[in-house]
Amino acid sequence: MSEIDLGDLMRISVVGGGYVGLVSAACFAQLGHSVDIIEIDEAKAEAINSGSPPIYEKGLEELLSRHAGCNLRAYTDYDNVRDTDLSIICVGTPPGPDGGADLSMVEKASRSLGEALREEGGYHVVAVKSTVPPGTTENLVMPTVLKHSGGAGDRIGFAMNPEFLREGLAVQDFMHPDRIVIGSLEPKAGDIVESLYAGLNAPVVRVGLSAAEMIKYASNALLATKISFSNEVGNICKKLGIDVYEVMRGVGMDHRISPHFLNAGAGFGGSCFPKDVTAMIRLGEKLGEDPVLLKSVIEVNERQPLRLVELLEERIGPLAGKEVAVLGLAFKNDTDDVRDSRALPVIKELLRRGALVRAYDPMAASNMRKIVPDIDYCERAAGALKDADGCLIMTEWPEFGELDREFDAMRSRVIIEGRKILSCRGGEGICW
Ligand SMILES: NC(=O)c1ccc[n+]([C@@H]2O[C@H](COP(=O)([O-])OP(=O)(O)OC[C@H]3O[C@@H](n4cnc5c(N)ncnc54)[C@H](O)[C@@H]3O)[C@@H](O)[C@H]2O)c1
Repeated sequence: MSEIDLGDLMRISVVGGGYVGLVSAACFAQLGHSVDIIEIDEAKAEAINSGSPPIYEKGLEELLSRHAGCNLRAYTDYDNVRDTDLSIICVGTPPGPDGGADLSMVEKASRSLGEALREEGGYHVVAVKSTVPPGTTENLVMPTVLKHSGGAGDRIGFAMNPEFLREGLAVQDFMHPDRIVIGSLEPKAGDIVESLYAGLNAPVVRVGLSAAEMIKYASNALLATKISFSNEVGNICKKLGIDVYEVMRGVGMDHRISPHFLNAGAGFGGSCFPKDVTAMIRLGEKLGEDPVLLKSVIEVNERQPLRLVELLEERIGPLAGKEVAVLGLAFKNDTDDVRDSRALPVIKELLRRGALVRAYDPMAASNMRKIVPDIDYCERAAGALKDADGCLIMTEWPEFGELDREFDAMRSRVIIEGRKILSCRGGEGICW
């Protein structure tokens, strides 16, 4: 029998205090568990302990102010791991040089966990929440933890518990998930992970380790496919003078399809879809498959932002020397995350064509400035729009929907929407 009584509140170590780790940790604390975050970035750990989240996520600051210093603490070392019941790996899995998942951070975290669990202690579960290719928990995490813990196989269990939260709605998604997926080799480790979520009302899907890993990849790949599909239909609609949003409203009412992720526009960005679809392509190729559908999903997504620039040039002529306002830098609204934002290829292409770019985002400008330092960043949309020859809308921030008179200050009121958000006259959609 496990020494952990199922249903009891647990002591958890969350490894990595980024978007997923910090939100999960704060929500587990809200569910009553005692949570240690292990975050190697000292500044992040300090910010968490002082109750101010290093990232923006709605509701997170409130959770941190309630729990930081009480049942939520951040550390930069693994010293307390052996006193906890469960460790959850939430470190990044960025794309490697060939587009496959770079698992070096997962391996390093596994090694540190193994070393921390070397001394005798009670039963401990190591769960992987990072998005990892099928086989990773069993073939990388397990052997690494066991090797560095001195082979304590009978007192360490393993599980895979993928995360489906959306940035911008992360706290809400975590507390109200559509389902909780738990993969394990043995029921005991899975039962302990399941009991963590006892306070939530969601169906639990119990599968093997690799199936849990694949559920996450397949979910992201299907969502990305819906977006690229809508964009392809939208590009055809545009040529025919049809509003793709009217079309997809009719399409999405079919319960077999659902209305979600059918919004045509500039394509998908963020830290997950592009990297996870690409990782799945590489995985398929390694296995001798040619994932043509997934390759096309990426190809449509890469072309889409460039179509925006081409449409702008069709409307205002060659872009060299033209002043272009880019509204929206975050990959989606309600986040400051610019990873793989569609604004990035757009800005690069504008600069390549000689345009002068003035950008505005209510939250993400400082993150974008780290990647693209050499454009003008404005404090307000109005500043970016004044005397601009054209405007591109790249993020569906609700405040852009309120803009109208601000566009009158442009040299010419040419507004191309990569996201459908405007309610005023004069906007033209990339594919509507
Ligand atoms: N961001 C999302 O919306 C989202 C959603 C679902 C799943 N995921 C997946 O979750 C994982 C984490 O994503 P993220 O967006 O939170 O990444 P992130 O980069 O925001 O956070 C990762 C954190 O881990 C820390 N870290 C790295 N190595 C460490 C180590 N050895 N010990 C302790 N801390 C360490 C980093 O400093 C960083 O703060 C990825 O696999 C991602 O694909 C992300």
